[in-house]
Formats: sequence, C-alpha cells, structure tokens
Amino acid sequence: MSDHQATHEAFPTGAPAVVTCGLPYANGDLHIGHLRTYVGGDVYSRALESLGQQTAFVCGSDMHGTPIAVQAIEEGVDPEAFALEWHEQYAETFPKFGVEFDNYGHTHDDTNRELTYDIVERLEAEGYVYEKEIKVAWDPVDEQPLPDRYVEGTCPYCGEHARGDECDEGCGRHLEPGEIEDPVSTISGNPAEYRDRAHKFFEVSELSEYLDGFLDRLEGTSNARNQPRQWLEDGLQDWCITRDLDWGFDYPGEDDLVLYVWVDAPIEYIASTKQYTERVGADEYDWAEAWREDGEIVHVIGRDIIQHHTIFWPAMLEVADYVEPRAVLASGFMTLGGKGFSTSRNRAVWAREYLDEGFHPDLLRYYLATNGGFQQDVDFSWEKFRDRVNNELVGTVGNFIYRSLLFAHRNFEGTPEADVSEEVEARVREAIDDFEAGVNDYSVRAVGNATVELARFGNEYIQREEPWNLVGEDDEAAAQVIRDCVQIAKAVAVLFEPIAPDTSEELWDQLGEDGSVHDVTVDAALEAPPRDFGAPAELYEKIEAERVEELNEKLAARVAEATADDAGTETDESDADGEGDVSDIEPVADDRISFDEFQGLDLRVAEIVAAEPIEDSDNLVKLTVDIGLEERQIVAGIKQLHDVDDLPGTKVVVVANLEKAELFGHESNGMLLAAGEDADLLTTYGDSPVGTKIR
Ligand code: MF3
Ligand code: ZN
Repeated sequence: MSDHQATHEAFPTGAPAVVTCGLPYANGDLHIGHLRTYVGGDVYSRALESLGQQTAFVCGSDMHGTPIAVQAIEEGVDPEAFALEWHEQYAETFPKFGVEFDNYGHTHDDTNRELTYDIVERLEAEGYVYEKEIKVAWDPVDEQPLPDRYVEGTCPYCGEHARGDECDEGCGRHLEPGEIEDPVSTISGNPAEYRDRAHKFFEVSELSEYLDGFLDRLEGTSNARNQPRQWLEDGLQDWCITRDLDWGFDYPGEDDLVLYVWVDAPIEYIASTKQYTERVGADEYDWAEAWREDGEIVHVIGRDIIQHHTIFWPAMLEVADYVEPRAVLASGFMTLGGKGFSTSRNRAVWAREYLDEGFHPDLLRYYLATNGGFQQDVDFSWEKFRDRVNNELVGTVGNFIYRSLLFAHRNFEGTPEADVSEEVEARVREAIDDFEAGVNDYSVRAVGNATVELARFGNEYIQREEPWNLVGEDDEAAAQVIRDCVQIAKAVAVLFEPIAPDTSEELWDQLGEDGSVHDVTVDAALEAPPRDFGAPAELYEKIEAERVEELNEKLAARVAEATADDAGTETDESDADGEGDVSDIEPVADDRISFDEFQGLDLRVAEIVAAEPIEDSDNLVKLTVDIGLEERQIVAGIKQLHDVDDLPGTKVVVVANLEKAELFGHESNGMLLAAGEDADLLTTYGDSPVGTKIR
C-alpha cells in the first residue's frame, strides 16, 4: 500500500461521500477538454463505490453570471431560456460518455434558491456581511452598470488585457469590481467610467485562521492544496458578493442587486445532493447527514477555479455550519497544438464529434483518465489516443481477455473446475490494493493502471504457462492455468468498471455473470466466476493509422484557422468554463527526448521563394521554399500575421522530413518553424546558405 494522504481516515469510511464536478456554465457546446474533469469525477466516484463507500455523484449547470447574460443579449434571447437549452443538452451528453450523475440539476431551480437564501441569511446573521461603497464600471451613454464581463480593460496587476472579473490572458487573478483599468463596455463599446455604488461584502478576511487550518486538513491534488497557501500569506481580501445585474438571484431585500454567481453556484452541490435524496429517500442516501454531519466531500474541478473551492467556498460553509470539503482534485488544462481549447473559435475536439466518429466512449475515458497525472497539462493528440488504445486497451487488456476466454470456452465450455492458484490470488489482491491506494491518493490514473498492470501480468502468465501445450498432455495443469486466467478476467471486469463502465459490463456478461458489474464491490474480483459461458467477443477494436491521419488533417486545418483568428480577437467570452486559455508560459514538457530522437528531426535553413494566399482559407498561405536540394511547396497558417508580398526572400527554418499533409486541398511538404501566437518566423543569425542542416 502506498502512504496515502492521511489527514483523514482512509476510504472507505462509514460516512456518506459526495463527489462533485465543477458546474459547467450553460453557454456552449461541450468539448473533450471539459470531459477531462467530468470523466475524472465519474471515475473517482465509481471507484469509491467499488470500495463500498456510500457515494452521491452530483453536478448541475451553472445558469447565472455575466457570461450567460452577455451571450443571451448578443443572441437577443431571454437568459433563462438560453441557459435552459444548454442545460438540457449537457444533461443528455454526459451519460453518452458514461458520466452518470446521481443528480444533475441547475442553479436556477427552487432547491438551490432556497438553500442559497438560507446560507446568505446565515452569513448575514453571523455578522459576516457588510455594505461598502465601491466604484463600479458604468456606461455613461447607455446609463447602465457594467459588471464583470460587461467590461474589458487592463489588468492592474500585470498590465495585460483582461475581463472585468478575471485576468484571463495575463496573471490569471480574480479581479474585484472597480479594479480593472481603462474600462470599456463589451456591449456598446463605449468607454466606461467608474461610479460609486453600495455593494455587499463577505468578510473572508476574518476567516484566515480557519482557512489556514482547513488547508492543513485538505486532501487532493497538490496544486489545490498548495496554491491557496500563497493567497493566505498575501492576506485575504473581503469578497464582493453582489452585482448590478438583472440575471441571477436577487439579493434579499435589495431589488437592484443580484447575488454574485460564485455564491449560488457551489451551493448547487448541496442542492443537487438534496434532490438526489428527495428522489431515492433518506434511507438510501441522506444529504443532510453528508452536508451537515460527517460527509466526505470531494470536489473535482479545473485548476482555474481552485481559489473559489479552497477559499471562498469553505469560508461560506464554515460560517453557515456545513461540512467542509475533504479533498479538492484540480485537473490541468487540455490544449490543442499547445493552445487552450476555445469554444468560440472552434479550436476544439467536440464531444459530439468524437461520438460521431464512431469511437466508443470508454476509449476516451481511458485516455483522459490515465494519460498523464490529473493535474498535468495535456496536449490532446489523436496519435497518442491511438497509441494508448492500441497498445493498452487492445494489446494488453483486450488481448488477454479474449485469448483466455476463448481458450476456456473451447476447451472447458467455461470456467475449469479448480481453485485459483496462490500466485494468482495474491496478484489479484495486489491489484485490489493498488486500486484502493489510487483512490486514497486521489489518482484516477493509478486506479486505471492497477487493472492494466493486472492484465499485463495475465498475458505474461498465460505466455509462461503455455496452456495450449498442456491440453491433451496434462489436462489438470491446463485447467489450473485457465481457471487462473478466468479469475483475472473477472477481476479486470470489476476493477476496470470505473474507467470503462460499458465494456466492463460487456465482459461481465461474457463471463456469464448475473446482475451488473456496476453494483459489485472490489471483493467480487476474488469470487469464483460462473461455471459456464459462451464464446467471447473482442472488447476493443484497433484504430487504424489512416483514421488518425484523417482526423489530424481535420484538426490541423481547424487549429490553423483558430490560430489566425486569435490575432484578430483578443478575448474569448465563453472560455471561463473550467478549461480557460493557457495564460502563462507553458511548462517544459515532462517527457524528455533522447539526442537520437532529436537527430531524427531534419531541420534546414531555407528561403521563401514565392508566397500566395489560399483563397478559401482565412489564414493559410501556399509557399514555395528553397531548401537547397530542391524547392518545396509548404502550406503555413500565417496569412493574417505577415504581409504575404513581403515573404519572398525571407530566410526560414524548415522541418524537412515531416510527413506530407494536405490542407484545404493543397499538399504541404514540410513545416516552417515559428514562435507563438504571432507566428514569428525563425530565421538565422549569420548567413548560412540554404540547405544547411541545423543541429
Ligand atoms: N461555472 C463555473 C466555471 O465554469 C464553475 C462553477 S463551480 C461551482 O468556471 F463551484 F461554483 F459550482
Ligand atoms: Zn493580470
């Protein structure tokens, strides 16, 4: 067993657990960047249940706030109807990826309204709310206040362009009303002024000592436990909890103020749990016990909202006398071609698109849950996806299961009569321990790896014992080996359920088991499989290289388009969805490459000979490039960033041995190196002739 973070009793405990995922703003299509958090939460909650922990897995749509109000205005629709439509779409989409919440509510319903008012009244009654005059951005022409995303300007901390409530392109800070400099209305474009308005503040600063202790107890990923330390040390500011806005819950007793979205949004975690209890009955799951007595509250979120979950939210819970979070798991960002997913710029792999391509949801679940640690940033690539599917799901797990069950079926019509060997029983126990340690380490990756490693052992075992040579020679020995393999197969079904719920159920059925693998606990991995079962079918299918090429081309064209778009527009309203743009300098990739691998790159000094824009594309340019040995045609996404007529004569650096690709029907035979969003072209310092190899 590993040394899990032992500030709390290890899972499973006797108390009810609540696993939540950050509420998605109801304002745009879901992409696979979002799914990383939701799959992570789903795997974690299923794994807890497999350990026998009573668990509610809840979430809901975040309906309020300025992003939604602003978008509804832009589309000329009512914000409630606008948000409800997205809400319904989310409620339908999650289960298609096996993300099955026990309750999926939304923040604009009555359960959340009541709980929110209870809690706000409690904050007031306990003396933690005061009123203060602050400067709010105001549109002097349209005569209206400009809260949060109604205004853009300059971050007072780092000088980057920022939204009213968040420095999304610079330092990432949460901005309080009145902080942003040079404010301009995002609705009218009018320069804004600041006016004095009375607003309500929650005295978070008074809770510093409590929060200090809370952070000592908090478990989860290290980013969520460590980052808030710094904010505490810097000194906490009180938190403005009202806005001048029409959309949201009215602040009690103030008809021209609504509650700040970040107050009522997390309360939906409680409201959604309550709705679950209302549906199944308190005997089955008691929301009040979980939230008011001794629940194990686990929040799974994107790393951009750590501050809300480790400072503001626990502060509210403490004053209102609710159970504090036990753990926060904050996922890294997912990027495409090194840049953040962007809803409005179509820089994304859409959830629906993935399904339309005909891939099984369990493949993506496996990839998202085990590709890198949860808090690591991950650059999505179809190649990596294919590698993991083909090598691990098909090659290791699927291959072991199929060869074992087929052999068992053909030679024994099911499970041979024998007891599991000591060796295999011990190995299955080890897998169960690894699984349990993964849960206690808050590592969904370790939970997934426990099973893949077990299947790997299974392959080695069958290879070593060669049952095919034993049949007819030593039938008893053959029966023993296959009996062991069927046990491992059953253990795989049980332990892989959190990662691949659908395929595990299929395997469960193939083994002739009754009931559902979703309802069993890890102990079932050691119980005897049924005597008879039929012919197995392959669980996972290989992804062909051509599929990846096809998907890559689509993606490359899309990323190139979006990258060019970035040069024009500066902000992206719809990206505060837990997967915001990567704002700071990207960390250096964890995976080191060898010198040999580097030498595999053929980089050359080259010169652009001719350049011609591609008509039906926003940003692609067709270049003729002299690489010394020959002239090449290369297509590059740099039209908006460079004056195309100035390009000929420019020295550049080219990756000469890159696979050929087709972009918008034009062949591209190589790639230019360029830095960052502006596609700043790399050139040479001296005057090395074209064709010179770069090393
Ligand atoms: N909608 C918010 C976002 O996408 C997340 C809200 S999470 C909750 O950033 F804690 F408020 F529920
Ligand atoms: Zn900033």
